[in-house]
Amino acid sequence: MILVTGGAGFIGANFVLDWLESSDESVLNIDKLTYAGNLGTLKALEHDARLVFERADICDRAAIDTLLAKHQPRAILHFAAESHVDRSIHGPADFVQTNVVGTFTLLEAARMHWIKLPEEQKQAFRFLHVSTDEVFGSLSSTDPQFAETTPYAPNSPYAATKAASDHLVRAYHHTYGLPVLTTNCSNNYGPYQFPEKLIPLMIANALAGEPLPVYGDGQNVRDWLYVGDHCSAIREVLARGDVGETYNVGGWNEKKNLDVVRTVCDLLDELRPKSSGSYRDQITYVKDRPGHDRRYAIDARKLERALGWTPAETFETGIAKTVQWYLDNQQWVDGVASGEYRKWVETNYAQRA
Ligand code: NAD
Ligand code: TYD
Repeated sequence: MILVTGGAGFIGANFVLDWLESSDESVLNIDKLTYAGNLGTLKALEHDARLVFERADICDRAAIDTLLAKHQPRAILHFAAESHVDRSIHGPADFVQTNVVGTFTLLEAARMHWIKLPEEQKQAFRFLHVSTDEVFGSLSSTDPQFAETTPYAPNSPYAATKAASDHLVRAYHHTYGLPVLTTNCSNNYGPYQFPEKLIPLMIANALAGEPLPVYGDGQNVRDWLYVGDHCSAIREVLARGDVGETYNVGGWNEKKNLDVVRTVCDLLDELRPKSSGSYRDQITYVKDRPGHDRRYAIDARKLERALGWTPAETFETGIAKTVQWYLDNQQWVDGVASGEYRKWVETNYAQRA
């Protein structure tokens, strides 16, 4: 069995769904079910014996020890995190707790579990840490893309806590020999992304007839990767990655935010036209995010060279699928947009007008 942390979140749940579509190896999903965790995403697997769910906090060492001893996973895939930059600006403490203390707790529990394994299982064991390109900081429009050797320069509390967790993972390999792998991926999009993030937020607001809040001048660049491609990269790295290595994962899809929002509007105009005008008319410029990184871009050549991985989707195919998915699954969005979410929208957007 494999252990997935954060398997009720956006990428973790997509990973679990994809994994069990192509493998009969069971999954133990450990998730605290914060506002970002939704078991409804895994509804199709509700009665599937291959998926075991345990509600637990990765900071709870005793709970993690018990689950490792009981289920004896051959690998840990660590997705659980606080993941939204704007929330990290309003409240960084949860980020330090889950991303730093939680990753440390998981590493310690994993090390104690791993050290007692028989030699063959010890050799085969893996701890795969899912991280972000935001640890590398911000690029100018002419800088080369982030490579695995780019120095860390995290700018937001989110990025700083992810960088800290990457360093701990590295240290556990260097010091104790724990067989770790780290992936640093660019911005993901696709089904089941919580509506606080750019693309699902724009779709939801557009359909609700609300403003589409573009931060600053809308010229910030992100490198977008369809979530299914991130999941396939993680499967490759788990299967064949070299222990101790880090791999950058990206889609070769650098886009300005404004262009992403316009693309979403154009797709909605086509698929769900308004009675008059275009969804583009709802675009509004709002106060910028403090410390807003200008550009992220990933050089994913190492992953291609070493493991032959390339993304299957272009931005154009991935975004069309995504917009269609949100149109077909508005019930899922309504289900996750709780009272807590409405409070967050008020906190984040009220002072930006
Ligand atoms: P998400 O916020 O959608 O989901 C996070 C999940 O972790 C939720 O299910 C939540 O309940 C769970 N969780 C949070 N704190 C926990 C705790 N203390 N114990 C147990 N579970 C806890 O995040 P996501 O977008 O799916 O991101 C998953 C991982 O991928 C994160 O580590 C993130 O840093 C990384 N990443 C995300 C992106 C992106 O664009 N979303 C890009 C690159 C890397
Ligand atoms: P986001 O999805 O929060 O991801 P990240 O900050 O991790 O890259 O945001 C993507 C980009 O979109 C980022 O440059 C901030 C911008 N953005 C907006 O312009 N308006 C919004 O309402 C949100 C949520 C993000």
